[in-house]
Amino acid sequence: MFKTILGIETSCDETAAAVLEQKEGRTHILSNIVSSSASLQEKYGGVLPEQAAREQLKMIIPVIEEAVKRAFPPPAATHLPPPVDAIAVTYGPGLIGSLLVGVETAKTLAQIWDKPLIPVNHLLGHFYANWIDGSPVFPSIGLLISGGHTDLVLFKSHHRYKYLGGTRDDAAGECLDKCARLLGLSYPGGPKISELAQKGNPKAFNLPRPMIEKGNFSAKGGPAYGWDFSFSGLKTAVANLIKTNIPTHRYADLAASLEQAIVDVLVKKCVQAAQKYKVKQVVVAGGVAANNKLRRELKEALAGISLSMPEPYLCTDNGAMVASRAFFENPVNPLSLQADPSLSLAR
Ligand code: KG4
Ligand code: ZN
Repeated sequence: MFKTILGIETSCDETAAAVLEQKEGRTHILSNIVSSSASLQEKYGGVLPEQAAREQLKMIIPVIEEAVKRAFPPPAATHLPPPVDAIAVTYGPGLIGSLLVGVETAKTLAQIWDKPLIPVNHLLGHFYANWIDGSPVFPSIGLLISGGHTDLVLFKSHHRYKYLGGTRDDAAGECLDKCARLLGLSYPGGPKISELAQKGNPKAFNLPRPMIEKGNFSAKGGPAYGWDFSFSGLKTAVANLIKTNIPTHRYADLAASLEQAIVDVLVKKCVQAAQKYKVKQVVVAGGVAANNKLRRELKEALAGISLSMPEPYLCTDNGAMVASRAFFENPVNPLSLQADPSLSLAR
C-alpha cells in the first residue's frame, strides 16, 4: 500500500529515525539515523529512565530532520512535509517516558503533515530488520534476544504467529549487562563481555545452562509456555564466583564462560524449536543477535535449516526496523494512539 515510510523509534535509550522504500517487493533503507544516550547511562551501569526520556526529548527533532534530509537530498528536503507516504512509530513495549516522546511526536507530525500513522510493536520491529534487503520465508522460528526480551515465536505469516515462550526473569542481554557491571565493564555490557571473552577460555568455569531443555513448564501455576528461558541464575552464579575473589586476570575466562553458557542455551532451544515445528527458517533479532559467537554457532548448529539474521548494526534499536514492519501494518487514527509500555508478543 505504501512505498516510503518514515520510522521512529524511542522505546529505550536510542532516539532513531529512518526512511525506507519498498521497490519490487523488497525493502531498502534511504536513511537511518540513530542517536544513543548509552554513553551517558554508562556511569549508572544501566538505563536511568528519566535521563533516557530527557535525552529523547532533546534528540527527537534533530534525528528526524537528519533522516529526512539524508533520504531526500535538496531540493526535496527544503519542501516540508517530506515525500513519505506514512509515519510509523514504536508504541511499546519500553520505558514510558521514552515511548511517549516518539509517540507524541509521530502523532503531531502525522496531523500537521497529513500523513497516515502506523503503530508498530517494538518486538515485531526487531524481527522485521530481517526484511530489510532480505525476504525471509514462513513458517519460521523467531528468536528475539535483546536487553529486555528473550522470546521464541512461531511465525506462520506476517500476521499469524504463536508465542512459544520467553524469559521468566532476566533477558539474555540483561544478564550480559548485569554481569558486565559485576566485572567492572561499562554499559551496554554485551559487546564488552564479547570483546573480553575473546581473550578467555570458554571452558574455564563450569557455569549453569538454565532451562536448556524444552518443556520447562511453570511450577507456580503461572502461564505455562513450553519454551521459557531463565538467565537470573546464571547471573547469580557469576556474582558468586566474583565474591570468591577470583583474580581479575581470570575475568576474561569468566566472560568467555558466561558468553558460552548463554550461547549454548539460545542455540540449543532454537534448534529444538526449529526441528519440532519443522520450519523452513530461523529468524533472529535483537541487540544480542549482533554477537559474533552466537551468529557463528547458530549457523553451524542449524545445518540444513536456513538462518536469517540482520546486519549487526540493524540488531540494536533503530528506526529502520520500525518502518520495515510498518509495511505490513495498517494505519490508525493518530488521535487515538497510546503508548503501551507492557506490550508483548504473547496474546
Ligand atoms: O535490542 P536492543 O538494542 O535493545 C532492547 O530492545 O533491549 O538490545 C540491547 C542489548 C543489550 O543488553 C546489549 O548488551 C546487547 O543487546 N548487545 C550485545 C551485543 N551488542 C548489543 N550482546 C552481545 N553481543 C553483542 N555484540
Ligand atoms: Zn529493542
